[in-house]
Amino acid sequence: MKKIGVKISVFMMLSCLLVLAACGNKEEKSSTDGNEKGKTLIAGTNAAFAPFEYMDKGKVTGFDVDLVEAVAKEAGYKVEVKHEGWDAMLANLQSKQSDLAIAGITMNDERKKTYDFTKPYFEATNMIVVKKESDIKNALDLKDKKIGVQNGTTGQEAAEKILGNNNGNIAKYKNITIAFMALKNNEVDAVVIDNVVGNEYVKNNPKENLKVVMDKENFDSEFYGMAFPKGSKLTKEFDQAFQKMIDNGTYAEIYKKWFKEEPDMESLKK
Ligand code: ARG
Repeated sequence: MKKIGVKISVFMMLSCLLVLAACGNKEEKSSTDGNEKGKTLIAGTNAAFAPFEYMDKGKVTGFDVDLVEAVAKEAGYKVEVKHEGWDAMLANLQSKQSDLAIAGITMNDERKKTYDFTKPYFEATNMIVVKKESDIKNALDLKDKKIGVQNGTTGQEAAEKILGNNNGNIAKYKNITIAFMALKNNEVDAVVIDNVVGNEYVKNNPKENLKVVMDKENFDSEFYGMAFPKGSKLTKEFDQAFQKMIDNGTYAEIYKKWFKEEPDMESLKK
């Protein structure tokens, strides 16, 4: 009897070990440490931000997509760029469900507490988009006006700097497409948005009768970086790969493809 009992428990222990081993072996697309070369990393984005990322025939496309694919390749990885909501993208990054995020994400002190960033890959600033007949000429004219922003972005911060926090005149939308729709329908008087994205929207939608208003005095210069979960080993690998692409001209090539001009490399060294 005793012998059988021992046999059964040995058998049970062995089966437990087998099950555990099988679980551990399960092939995972995304892991927190990332370091197995050649594997497919998951990069979160919010693809309503042309020309950096947008959906084209069901595919995520844009400068950021070309850039992250090239940097990942240089670093020895494949990458799958996934379109998610802005908040979901950040939450998935924090919980390490994604290996990285690229979405025209401005690096600021607040975000640096939660994520690690590569060196800057793009310089930007906020701008104002209004209807052509609008009398808004600079950021200070936004006081007492209704402003549309994408929730949780530096556009929201820029608007709050002028109107104050929790101002009911700031309408926060979950993506920039809805903010522009609100402008079209006169639900807001202006949209505050990253300059290149604002310019692109106005250019692509001539029928909406829009114009852009720049204000370098009231809107700060910002830098986009690729974001990683805190402590990810990938940050350094991507940084080194990115530096190689700057040195060998690949970055400039991708830049020219999307922006039709040479990048100002000095601006990224600030
Ligand atoms: N640069 C701004 C920020 O980081 C806006 C980015 C929005 N990006 C996007 N893909 N929707 O807050």
